[in-house]
Amino acid sequence: MIIAVDGPTASGKGTIAKALAEHFGVPVLDTGLLYRAVGYQTQLNHGDADDAADALAACDFPDSLLGDPALRYETTGGLASRVSVHPAVRAALFQRQVDFANQPGGAVLDGRDIGTVIAPNADAKLFVTASPEVRAQRRFAEMQKRGVNVTYDAVLADIHARDARDTGRADAPLLRAADADLLDTGDLTIGDAVQRAITLVEALTGRR
Ligand code: DC
Repeated sequence: MIIAVDGPTASGKGTIAKALAEHFGVPVLDTGLLYRAVGYQTQLNHGDADDAADALAACDFPDSLLGDPALRYETTGGLASRVSVHPAVRAALFQRQVDFANQPGGAVLDGRDIGTVIAPNADAKLFVTASPEVRAQRRFAEMQKRGVNVTYDAVLADIHARDARDTGRADAPLLRAADADLLDTGDLTIGDAVQRAITLVEALTGRR
């Protein structure tokens, strides 16, 4: 059983993917983390995230980098969005994601192109979204809690920029697959969104 969870930044897709994995007892892959590792490794190499050759060279990052807290930084998310534009980077990360998706016991993957490119035959596809303002408000609250000095307007501008780059790129853009169920988390608590996602996947797969 393959479950694909796609959507824009701060939509709640990561939390939903983890909860689905726990509920159905299958492993989960946050594919954004792979792009974050490439973006961060590009920086460690003193390379330019907008340069395809520099970004490709960073694709052989060590696996230990995936546990680095720096991957969670907002700045790393921006770098990830920039390196993810290059087709060579997407190709370099492709097989790892396909293998994860097709492991015998099944899997949950969350990202931008899981339902469209990585696992087009997924048993369940969710497209998780919310308005840019709602997502900015969530991200802003979360950053304030962490003591990050930032304004709501700056967070909203960053979300708009990330959305534009992720949706506008030519290769595997952020896109709702034709057969993906839309889950708008804008008016839902995270608990309600998770419950809605579980109910949708149960209906789509017949699994409990
Ligand atoms: O989900 P995230 O915020 O950690 O993702 C960071 C960036 O990585 C995102 O802005 C675009 C890129 N990404 C991608 O292109 N394809 C994916 N499947 C996952 C992430």
